[in-house]
Amino acid sequence: MSQKTTFITTPIYYISGEPHIGHVYTTIAADVLRRTALTRGSAFLLTGTDEHGQKVAAAAAAAGISPQAWTDALVPRWQALTTRFGVVCDDFIRTTEERHQRVVVAVFEALKARGEVYLGTYEGWYCTNDETFWLEAKLVDGRCPNPECRREVQWISEQNWFFSLAKYRDRLLAYYRANPHWLKPQSVWNEMYAAIESGLEDLCISRSNVSWGVPLPDSRVMYVWLDALLNYISAIGYGVDPSRFEAYWPADVQLIGKDIARFHAIIWPALLWALDLPLPRLVYAHGWLTVDGQKMSKSRGNVVNPFALADRFGADAVRYFLLREAAFGSDFSYSEQKILQRYVSDLGNDLGNLVHRSLAMLAKYRDSLVPAIAPSSLVLPAQHLGERVYEAFAGLQFREGLDAVWELVSGLNRLIDERKPWALAKAGEDAALDALLYEICEGLRWIALCLEPIMPEKARAMWQQLGLAGEPTGSWAELLQWGLLPPGTRTVPGAPLFPRLLDDVPVA
Ligand code: MSP
Repeated sequence: MSQKTTFITTPIYYISGEPHIGHVYTTIAADVLRRTALTRGSAFLLTGTDEHGQKVAAAAAAAGISPQAWTDALVPRWQALTTRFGVVCDDFIRTTEERHQRVVVAVFEALKARGEVYLGTYEGWYCTNDETFWLEAKLVDGRCPNPECRREVQWISEQNWFFSLAKYRDRLLAYYRANPHWLKPQSVWNEMYAAIESGLEDLCISRSNVSWGVPLPDSRVMYVWLDALLNYISAIGYGVDPSRFEAYWPADVQLIGKDIARFHAIIWPALLWALDLPLPRLVYAHGWLTVDGQKMSKSRGNVVNPFALADRFGADAVRYFLLREAAFGSDFSYSEQKILQRYVSDLGNDLGNLVHRSLAMLAKYRDSLVPAIAPSSLVLPAQHLGERVYEAFAGLQFREGLDAVWELVSGLNRLIDERKPWALAKAGEDAALDALLYEICEGLRWIALCLEPIMPEKARAMWQQLGLAGEPTGSWAELLQWGLLPPGTRTVPGAPLFPRLLDDVPVA
């Protein structure tokens, strides 16, 4: 099957400080998309770091080192974050890399040659925190109008390059109407449509008195947002390796937080059109992790350290929690109490206990050997599970996909409670016990496969405990067939999947 590789991107993260779990939220979702796509074909996940701009330069200056030394020192921390959470990135791009910078310059030259940019004077305000130009009329009480920011803005008056964004208004509106699903969720689509309708200004795309950026041929540097957006095409060889570029572009899913929708849903499409490139198939703007109703952010001081969280609950439990607790797309209020609750009930009591007691019974009654296959009462309910889970995960409905998997988890727990293997063993009903034990183990194999995109490490542990060779990965069309668990397989009961936490107080 020669299917195009599913190309998934995350925003590239500002490297002005330490990562928090809000950052890892987007990257984990991208990893789930990647793993889901791999069950049908090939996938490529791109992430990276946004290293230029005044904000990064200021952070470096405060630390008394050069911006390059600052970013070099911080990048490993961001890369370690992906590894810590089991995220497999096919590429990690840094905007300070030569392969990126030369594409930025080439794009600038191309825009110039096409008459898409012109020199003008930018007189107005600039918010360094958001790296955004603001016209006087937009300010709120003389401050940055972004409600999440509201910082002081800085007056700038510079001769700069402008991108002719305003002329794309009608084309954007027509595109939005013709492609109601290119930008999700609907709330963000509506907001962006209204913003375009109310009129667009040409965009200043260079900085004159800033040195930490991609140098343009005329001593200015590229505006950091244009520099950053171009990572999505520089990483896949735009202008350098056309066949590689065409193998990936357009991106299938560009994941962003809703805070940066304007850049990805207004400026980015116009820029792509200016270069005669097709638009991504889907831009998906998820909601925020909030704490007490406030967006989690470094400046609010309400951030949660992702490394500490992974140390306490395990990376997979955090992945599960982030994608099960709230619908992807809406905000959700984070609390440690909620993650603890999910850990104890869904993971420990429902799933962990199911695996543990199933394999313990198999050990007790059948010396850990999977019995011969027998007709199953679960075949029908499980039949469409793979499709349901695939559609849900690939469609960014992670919670719904997990609900479907949990139907099987609960179904198996119910089956054990109702059919009581211990009673069958006592009554010497061997055939019925064989059938039941097979059914349960085969159900566990399905659960491991379906959970792999969300909890890769735990799925692997389940796979190993089931005594299966290889990994719980591969084509779901082939693997999710009822009855593939080979009779005679020796299971290997192991450590509990979700051990009790030392400080695991009962949660009301
Ligand atoms: N560097 C720019 C993006 C350039 S992409 C061409 C940027 N970086 S950022 O580090 O400030 O934020 C990047 C992303 O982190 C957000 O869009 C979002 O995906 C994620 N999040 C940051 N804080 C978050 C929450 N509190 N909650 C959920 N996601 C959050 O903007």
